[in-house]
Amino acid sequence: MTDFIKVAKVDELEEGALLAVEVDGEPICLARVNGDVCAFTDNCTHISGPLNEGELDGDILTCPWHGAQFNVRTGKVVRGPARQDILTYPVKVEDDVILVSLPD
Ligand code: FES
Repeated sequence: MTDFIKVAKVDELEEGALLAVEVDGEPICLARVNGDVCAFTDNCTHISGPLNEGELDGDILTCPWHGAQFNVRTGKVVRGPARQDILTYPVKVEDDVILVSLPD
């Protein structure tokens, strides 16, 4: 069974905001889109730009370094220069707590 790890409280993440957290040493970025919480790697697949410092517009995140865009719900690349999708992680919200599951 996959473990879900507590990473933040819901009220730390405003609508349309990004938040950097670390889970088991992994840099993870959280985003809140239309009330949903998404979790994905905080490293851009181009050359590891910090995605938590990017711009979120709806579910599209723009990397702060060279402008690659990703869909934060699916992890899909929407615009280069990145070519590889970002990893996304399962999220649960229980009471006011955000939990993320990392693959084994
Ligand atoms: S590091 Fe993200 S676009 Fe270059």
